Amino acid sequence: MCGIVGYIGKKSASPILISGLKKLEYRGYDSAGICLQTAAGLELVKNKGRISQLEKDLAVRDFSQSRIGIAHTRWATHGEPSVINSHPHFDCLGQIAIVHNGIIENYQALKELLVKEGHKIVSETDSEIVAHLIEKFHQGDIEKALRRALQLLIGAYGLAVLSQKEEKIIVARKGSPLVIGLGKDEILVASDVPAILAHTKKVIYLSDGEIGILTAGGYQIKNSAGQILDKKIEEIKWTVDQIEKKGYKHFMLKEIFEQPQSIANTLAGRIKNHQAKLSLKTDLKKINRIIISACGTSWHSALIGKHLLESIAQIKTEVDYASEFRYRDPLLYQDDLLIVISQSGETADTLAALRQAKSKGIETLGVVNVVGSSISREVDSGIYLHAGPEIGVASTKAFTSQVAALTLLSLYFTQQKKLVVDKKIISQLANLPEKISQALALAPVIKKIAEQFKDSRNFLYLGRGFNFPVALEGALKLKEISYIHAEGYPAAEIKHGPIALIDKNMPVVFLASKNNLSAKIVSNIEEVKARQGIIIALANKGDKIIAKLADYLIEVPDSLPQLSPIINVVPLQLLAYYIADSKGLDVDKPRNLAKSVTVE
Ligand code: F6R
Repeated sequence: MCGIVGYIGKKSASPILISGLKKLEYRGYDSAGICLQTAAGLELVKNKGRISQLEKDLAVRDFSQSRIGIAHTRWATHGEPSVINSHPHFDCLGQIAIVHNGIIENYQALKELLVKEGHKIVSETDSEIVAHLIEKFHQGDIEKALRRALQLLIGAYGLAVLSQKEEKIIVARKGSPLVIGLGKDEILVASDVPAILAHTKKVIYLSDGEIGILTAGGYQIKNSAGQILDKKIEEIKWTVDQIEKKGYKHFMLKEIFEQPQSIANTLAGRIKNHQAKLSLKTDLKKINRIIISACGTSWHSALIGKHLLESIAQIKTEVDYASEFRYRDPLLYQDDLLIVISQSGETADTLAALRQAKSKGIETLGVVNVVGSSISREVDSGIYLHAGPEIGVASTKAFTSQVAALTLLSLYFTQQKKLVVDKKIISQLANLPEKISQALALAPVIKKIAEQFKDSRNFLYLGRGFNFPVALEGALKLKEISYIHAEGYPAAEIKHGPIALIDKNMPVVFLASKNNLSAKIVSNIEEVKARQGIIIALANKGDKIIAKLADYLIEVPDSLPQLSPIINVVPLQLLAYYIADSKGLDVDKPRNLAKSVTVE
């Protein structure tokens, strides 16, 4: 949800800011802008549309001498995507510029106050008032003015502020991520690591309530009381190579094909002597109930996690949307464990769910991909996915790594409780990268099927047991990148309503790999076929019954039912990808979406 970059140093700021913005474009892409400090004052260039447009606008001006600047790529919350609503925003005199990620909840009241005092507010955004508040309090010291402004703000912010008169960038964080990159004779700030990775791997993560004062010669981090903090400098493990497309048409396709490796990374060092090895601070033996909270695709992996934890580790598990959990005042007990799952580690609702459980003294555990993210820093213990950066807006490799991590956790839990561990699950888990490679080899078959359905208006995805959440995930992938309406259902549920939708134009994707419900799935396929629905079936090789019933057959590698979601989701990711690509859509940047949802 919006990306911020700032640069101060000895090099020309504009190209560094633009390439940083491009790496953050997954966070929002409806408009973009840049503000540079020059000898003539603050220069602003902004436009509706993609960063490539902003780059063209900048190319006709010469800003090569400017060594300080801030930039922003927007995902609109307040006010439509337009030039006037795009960031950076100025104060009345054009001497203070800000970029903001987050939402200022009390902006209406503050706007009224500022307008009464004579400020000219030109945009419909919640963000612009921050520039005017700083102006209101400014008496020559931009840091002091920002501090006073922050006292009035309710909501979430990652902010970068630039003044015409001071050679520094001031940044502040509450709720929205900010990372400061420490280079040689230069300092960068950004909403996420990819924007600064080409310049430095040494970073400081700003925490809520902290302010950073960045100059070409150094930096200071202060707490809300103004005391200087000695923050830990951390080393980023990601490489620049990992955030390039490497010949793939889209990041999403690259990330789908990376899954043998990303799963191997999640499992690396965590299976030894037929045992799951995790180092968790939490004493699992005292846990009686698990609640998993997450959003979107991560919520789907939570649903699979429930099946895994209940069937493998025999522990009662509930799953809650983070956005519901946080406001429901849920009944919690001291022997509960809250697991939060998040690729980004920054999703606002998931972070709030975590904080709510912590405030009630509940033990927490994170399953997170991005190292150093807010959730990873606030949980009591955690499992990093090590899936590498996920840039495509539609989550793929993070999902399979999440499910692999939850399988490990279930096995680990079983060991802690001294229950019998199913050795078959452990050995097949270790063998997953190979199975995923086999599933990826289906790409040409799936591409052909996809071309047949690119003009479909609706899709149904049906699965049961472990594969019901996979049906939900397949449907989500399709709708978010192809804009085709799709629903996932437990296969038997269609009789209670959705079957009315089925006619000769309705493609129905069945997750029909072998498990204890296979006979039931066959009956469900028959029911759809009897109503002329088009059957696209995922089944194991050699399953003659399904092969006979299916109009389109995708033969997936066989596996234990517990591990089948990780394999079966791969063809569904490819199906969604190839349908969206054959429609000519921008797969990595689907309309209205952003990768990291840092607003609620
Ligand atoms: C869908 C997708 C989203 C995210 C959701 C949670 O493809 O990517 O539904 O899964 O926004 O994000 P994280 O996992 O970062 O908390």
